[in-house]
Amino acid sequence: MSELRFDGKVAIITGAGHGLGRSHALSLAGRGAKVVVNDLGGALDGTGASAGPAADVVELIRKNGGEAAVSTDDVATPEGAAAIVQTAIDAFGRLDIVVNNAGILRDRSFGKMSVEEFDQVIAVHVRGSFLVSRAAFPHLKEQGYGRIVNTSSPAGLFGNFGQANYSTAKMGLVGLTKTLGIEGARAGIKANAIAPIAWTRMTEEILPAEFEATFTAERVSALVTFLAHEACETSGEVFSVGGGRVARVFVAEGPGWRKEDHTVEDIRDNWDAILAEQPYLTPTTLGEQATASMRAML
Ligand code: NAI
Repeated sequence: MSELRFDGKVAIITGAGHGLGRSHALSLAGRGAKVVVNDLGGALDGTGASAGPAADVVELIRKNGGEAAVSTDDVATPEGAAAIVQTAIDAFGRLDIVVNNAGILRDRSFGKMSVEEFDQVIAVHVRGSFLVSRAAFPHLKEQGYGRIVNTSSPAGLFGNFGQANYSTAKMGLVGLTKTLGIEGARAGIKANAIAPIAWTRMTEEILPAEFEATFTAERVSALVTFLAHEACETSGEVFSVGGGRVARVFVAEGPGWRKEDHTVEDIRDNWDAILAEQPYLTPTTLGEQATASMRAML
């Protein structure tokens, strides 16, 4: 089978100074993509800034014979997002791929979480992915081609103690991905999301020590690299990935229970049927879901 290459393609990877983003950048650059390595270079909680991490990754890519440009802009501001996209245009003259990966943590149990802790996590993950995709969109649309990969999390898809802000952000990215997939379709733009698990500075104090060797960042980057390639025709989907395993995660709706003019007691008495999962539907648009609801009424 032929190798999947990215010659002539230009990619932006946000948060690529460390961890998963760094690994995605090295993977894409190793296959011929010209890469904008973006990273604010702050601490895990988003405080501080440093030009070092992004510059180090650019240097490593160049040492390996690849092409890269540096960006230390903040994904969470419109100016920062615009500057990241402009870096791609100025350095390489085009843009094909956006990997929204930048992220921070501000974990706190729900009762103690401050408004600031909530807002800052939403700002980097959700607002940042929106802003960078928004700045990139006209370029992708005009050329009739683009690939966007967003970074969700099992914490958002399934919930996790102490991460109300992060879970909200990560499920928010599922909604963004689905609608971007729909709105990008006519222009050849595919958007997908990953829900990874990997040993990075974000997880090294949470994951058991034996995960380090198995859950490597590289074992997430192969999927990201595929989703960023023109060979990937899928859009609007979410994939669990880590330790060598890749699985589709889908938003499903159960078959449902129906009775016109039902009472509160009817709801109580039919609760098991309402909770039933099989046979489930997997609508890919609001329209498909509405059609399924209509059909249930016939
Ligand atoms: P990391 O902390 O090593 O990498 C995140 C990078 O984003 C850092 O280099 C940081 O400087 C950068 N960053 C933060 N705020 C930024 C901003 N405003 N603008 C530009 N860059 C910024 O952590 P890791 O694990 O590599 O995380 C990457 C992504 O994967 C994040 O979105 C994270 O939430 C997500 N994720 C990671 C999981 C894991 O198991 N490591 C699990 C689920 C999701």
